[in-house]
Amino acid sequence: DWNMPDYIAEAVQRIREQVGDEEVILGLSGGVDSSVAAALIHRAIGDQLTCVFVDHGLLRLNEGRMVMEMFAGRLHAKVVHVDATEQFMGHLKGVTDPEQKRKIIGREFVEVFQAEAAKLPRAKWLAQGTIYPDVIESGGAKNKKAHTIKSHHNVGGLPETLGLKLLEPLRELFKDEVRELGVALGLPHDMVYRHPFPGPGLGVRILGEVKQEYADLLRRADAIFIDELRAADWYDKTSQAFAVFLPVKSVGVMGDGRTYEYVVALRAVQTQDFMTAHWAELPHSLLGKVSNRIINEVRGINRVVYDISGKPPATIEWE
Ligand code: XMP
Repeated sequence: DWNMPDYIAEAVQRIREQVGDEEVILGLSGGVDSSVAAALIHRAIGDQLTCVFVDHGLLRLNEGRMVMEMFAGRLHAKVVHVDATEQFMGHLKGVTDPEQKRKIIGREFVEVFQAEAAKLPRAKWLAQGTIYPDVIESGGAKNKKAHTIKSHHNVGGLPETLGLKLLEPLRELFKDEVRELGVALGLPHDMVYRHPFPGPGLGVRILGEVKQEYADLLRRADAIFIDELRAADWYDKTSQAFAVFLPVKSVGVMGDGRTYEYVVALRAVQTQDFMTAHWAELPHSLLGKVSNRIINEVRGINRVVYDISGKPPATIEWE
């Protein structure tokens, strides 16, 4: 049991003592952990913090705008918004292997971040939203590696080659504590209680080669799914939910015409630890509404399917 105002005051004090009058750089991803870390550090040191938000072009609909509105707009934090879409798309061209895609996205992310860090020579600290479970996990890294099926590139995973000291104010906190802290710091409930989103983003939700056109279609379909989940009060009853783009075309009819367009799969799971998961038994009426809206509103998609595979043997993401 903890007293939140006291906790924040102590954390702020600790950050001020650690950092002194030096400057801090933080990679903002739009996820819960980096957002809460940014809000806390900003509370402590204000403009000594610069957030770098790298948009790899594989984010969800309006994500960039929301992050900028929250951190630059409402918190008045210094935020550098880097639109690196073309760079990422260029390097992903022709690449179909999931692990290869992860590697490229992880590598390019580090490169873009490093280039931004180089523009801030006064920064002596790299802040990260590392939380307690991450600390434990990396302690058991050897053991974990043997069981890892996918290389989990997280955009928070920056190398020590930056030559910066690490500032990790959430290192002692569990996820639910991080969320409580975020709310207490004034972050919106919806931002703090979001489903997890993988570092490579839509890059692993577009099967095979990633193309701008696919990403744009997927973003819109995904936003409709999430909107309707929220409207039906199902968002908080699922652990993760998203749309997946299948680069195959199937035949449909529209008016008097025949269509030949892409397929989107919906995935929604319930899980405690993400190691095993059940597919969510969403109401048929909800699924029907989502399907209708996607097909009517997203030209280019004429078929929607629902994934009813458990983990194992399937994984949560399709790649
Ligand atoms: P799977 O698909 O392995 O996913 O059942 C388990 C959880 O991990 C997330 N995931 C990732 N997160 N980088 C990440 O940061 C990745 O490359 C990655 N791959 C999967 C996935 O979203 C789910 O929450």
